[in-house]
Amino acid sequence: MEFEFVTPGPIEYPAPEAIPGPSSSQFWTPGRGNSIPDYDMFIVSTLSDLSWKMRQKKEDTVSNTLSGKTAVVTGGSRGIGAAIAARLASMGAKVVICGRDRERLAKSAANIGCEAVPCDVSDWKSVESLASAVKQDHGGLDILVNNAGVADFGRPLHELPPDRWDAMINTNLRGVYYAIRAFAPLMISRGGGHIVNISSIASKNALPGGAAYAATKWGLNGLSYSVAEELRGSNVRVSVVCPGSTDTELSPHAGKDPKKMLRGEDIAHVVAMLVTQSDNSFASEVVIRPTKKP
Ligand SMILES: NC(=O)c1ccc[n+]([C@@H]2O[C@H](COP(=O)([O-])OP(=O)(O)OC[C@H]3O[C@@H](n4cnc5c(N)ncnc54)[C@H](OP(=O)(O)O)[C@@H]3O)[C@@H](O)[C@H]2O)c1
Repeated sequence: MEFEFVTPGPIEYPAPEAIPGPSSSQFWTPGRGNSIPDYDMFIVSTLSDLSWKMRQKKEDTVSNTLSGKTAVVTGGSRGIGAAIAARLASMGAKVVICGRDRERLAKSAANIGCEAVPCDVSDWKSVESLASAVKQDHGGLDILVNNAGVADFGRPLHELPPDRWDAMINTNLRGVYYAIRAFAPLMISRGGGHIVNISSIASKNALPGGAAYAATKWGLNGLSYSVAEELRGSNVRVSVVCPGSTDTELSPHAGKDPKKMLRGEDIAHVVAMLVTQSDNSFASEVVIRPTKKP
């Protein structure tokens, strides 16, 4: 919806019979014949109309910030990824989410109002076909959020079965490599873009009981900083977001107060900020913690 700003000029008082009644149901205007004198009511009505139009213009500007942009969010079927996808869609982007569980993916896409393409990020063929579909349907890509991740907490590394190690390395690290391999060329050929890698505060600390997970996230940060330098010249910004404890299925809840944990929407807010920076600005890393320790 587009509105012109209306600059209020000097108010000319019309003859009482020319005073219009309420003309719009979108703001409250007192009716004629009540206790407000007609001339004053005319001014109230005009100023309310003006302020509503200006407010509407501002809201439309925010909601259309990403109009014309295409975004892919990996792991968008629940948790942080679903919140990020919903936020980008609300800002006008065409959003494509992916995940392995087709049913959950379809439900999430229906809730958000976005596209869903089943894809396992740890499988190159699967990521390659996702990229082909995005190229065919959207002609390229502007925003890639590498969010898909798995975790295994609660046991020391020497008790971790090798298949759990493989799952974490292949999703949290190899999956990001595959997605960048498939999508960065689409951004370069479009003249720029933004890649946001969802890491973790575990990328900054020792995490007893989660050594392999921490290793994938420390690795992801190194990958992100390096790829950022590789792609800067092509106008592609690569940022890394490191959230603390967030209330999702992945996060250990034992002994924690979920009300104090971060919400997916908090991470989505940071991603929205990153992808709406001015062309000159490159916020390369954001660490986000719950205000109070959960
Ligand atoms: N929750 C936290 O406290 C927290 C804190 C810091 C960082 N993070 C990071 O935030 C990201 C999202 O985590 P979350 O908490 O939202 O977890 P979640 O609720 O378990 O969601 C994970 C998402 O990733 C998808 N996924 C997993 N493996 C995949 C694969 N191989 N290919 C495609 N999609 C895959 C899942 O869908 P399918 O299972 O259907 O594939 C799901 O949509 C992860 O990278 C995680 O490490 C989480």
